[in-house]
Amino acid sequence: MSLRRLLNWLAALLVLKVTIAVVLKYRDYLPPNFNSDFLQGRESYFFDSYQWAFYPHIAAGPLTLIFGLLLINERMRVRFPKSHRVLGRAQLLLVLFVVAPSGLWMAYRAAAGPAAGLGFASLALATGLFAFLGWRTAVRRRFAEHRRWMGRCFVALCSTVVLRLIAGLADVARVDAAWIDVFAAWGSWLLPLAAFELFRVAPRFLDASTQNKAGDRSYFFG
Ligand code: HEM
Repeated sequence: MSLRRLLNWLAALLVLKVTIAVVLKYRDYLPPNFNSDFLQGRESYFFDSYQWAFYPHIAAGPLTLIFGLLLINERMRVRFPKSHRVLGRAQLLLVLFVVAPSGLWMAYRAAAGPAAGLGFASLALATGLFAFLGWRTAVRRRFAEHRRWMGRCFVALCSTVVLRLIAGLADVARVDAAWIDVFAAWGSWLLPLAAFELFRVAPRFLDASTQNKAGDRSYFFG
């Protein structure tokens, strides 16, 4: 197994692990526990419009991560092209009509304030745009571009994983400054996206032994 493939599999396992950890916390949300970390201080507005964004968001979010993992798996796509199309449509609907709009709505009430909220709102708009462009290029059968946009969309969705890693690291390093949350809201998606673009333009960076003619497929695993 090449180093690149190994790293891809480790990243996939990390996404899976964080997704499970996120879902295990849902006992704080059903019913809402306003003493829990995330819901603390939100009681005054939770039962207005917030809950209508929050519950669809936390229901659809983990699904988009699992679907994303399956969709970017190269072997699955080649072996089960029909399932790829069905799952891809479900992913598109979930991202465009649930996760991105609910994230945008919740950004307005971001716990860390407006600067973090702006980071989340930009993330919501970027994710929706990537999904839309991914869909449009698939319909036009421009598959190399389709893979690229959908890769970006998945990286944007994985911001939720990176956000929790940053929070965990800040905890371990005992950094308790307000700027960390703002940094996390922006850095959790801009840094992975920058890395994605870097590895896309330098596909042989991690795999010097392989003449990677597949270029655009280099970030797919399986
Ligand atoms: C377009 C991408 C996304 C955007 C823009 C977004 C936005 C947000 C925002 C603004 C919040 C509230 C943050 C705060 O008030 O500090 C939030 C919370 C949350 N999001 Fe997302 N999100 C996205 C993707 C995801 C994904 C893929 C998941 C899957 C696990 C997810 C799961 C959650 C959960 C569970 C919460 C509640 C807080 C917690 O339990 O940690 N989000 N999201």
